[in-house]
Amino acid sequence: MENRLKELRQSALKRVEAAASEEDLRAVTREFIGKQGAVSELLALIPNLPPAERGAMGKGANLLKRSIGDAISERKLALEALALDAQRAGGDFDPSLPGAPQMRGSLHPLTLVRREVEGIFSSMGYSILDGPEVELDYYNFQALNIPEHHPAREMQDTFYCDSGGKLVMRTQTSPVQIRAMESLSPPFRVIAPGRVFRNEEADATHEHTFHQVEGLVVGRDITVGHLTGVLKGFLRQLFQRDLDVRLRPGYFPFVEPGFELDIRCPFCEEGCRVCKKTCWVEFCGCGLVHPTVLEAGGIDPEAWTGFAFGFGLDRLVMLRHGIDDIRHFMGGDLRFLEQF
Ligand code: PHE
Repeated sequence: MENRLKELRQSALKRVEAAASEEDLRAVTREFIGKQGAVSELLALIPNLPPAERGAMGKGANLLKRSIGDAISERKLALEALALDAQRAGGDFDPSLPGAPQMRGSLHPLTLVRREVEGIFSSMGYSILDGPEVELDYYNFQALNIPEHHPAREMQDTFYCDSGGKLVMRTQTSPVQIRAMESLSPPFRVIAPGRVFRNEEADATHEHTFHQVEGLVVGRDITVGHLTGVLKGFLRQLFQRDLDVRLRPGYFPFVEPGFELDIRCPFCEEGCRVCKKTCWVEFCGCGLVHPTVLEAGGIDPEAWTGFAFGFGLDRLVMLRHGIDDIRHFMGGDLRFLEQF
């Protein structure tokens, strides 16, 4: 039996040495250390040996198996190195050619513009807040002066998350207003960018998932002048020039008075596709914070006032880059994303 081990070792190592390809090595593996290989056959015989010899024999066979395996791995590496050398020596190898290009990712256009927006508001002293995307009905509606069964709920088709109707996918970033009031003491100014969700049929301008930026300032004697001043200042920095704005009355239960703020179309003087020939583009909802809402946030409406605004980030990015379909943003099409 011991001789058999020695024999096997010799012939296996000779075969490994002679192997000229991976295919050869696979054959050696199979024949010697595979499940049906010579070493396994040997191991299978051990139970027939006198008990005293079994231990030594088992050890010997296992050692042999390991050293054949090692020799095969070593030979494999050597063959690979040889192949590479041969390739390099060949006439068509040119070490001065550039390497294969690395694909680089890039930031999503929404991320790029969000960061720009955050930078501008930070420079004006605003903190940046975050809020949950799955929100309590209380924050998304009730505390914002939209009680249950209030018709204003119809303005926003809501995804409810539970049969009790206590949890919703937030339909707006406005709930962060209440969370901000609960956790900060006035005066303060914050923005809250984030994802919002509405149960809407998707088309070129609607998606079930989109993005808003909420703004909230609470201080003494806040007026509509402060509101328009801040928004104009923001737009000036974003578009690098002064853009006219106009206020139209707008209904949002959490502000009073409430407005829709339009901006003069950044692309034309006398009407174009973007502004639908009106020269004005809707930009955001805004207004002075309703006293009931301040109260819900734990702030005394006799002592403090505020303004709030909320605009669609997707729309802003579309305006900025001339994108005509909101569905590109979440579509995951690399041909779109690689342009940024
Ligand atoms: N949350 C409102 C909307 O989604 C926008 C808004 C924000 C209006 C803040 C007024 C004040 O339509």
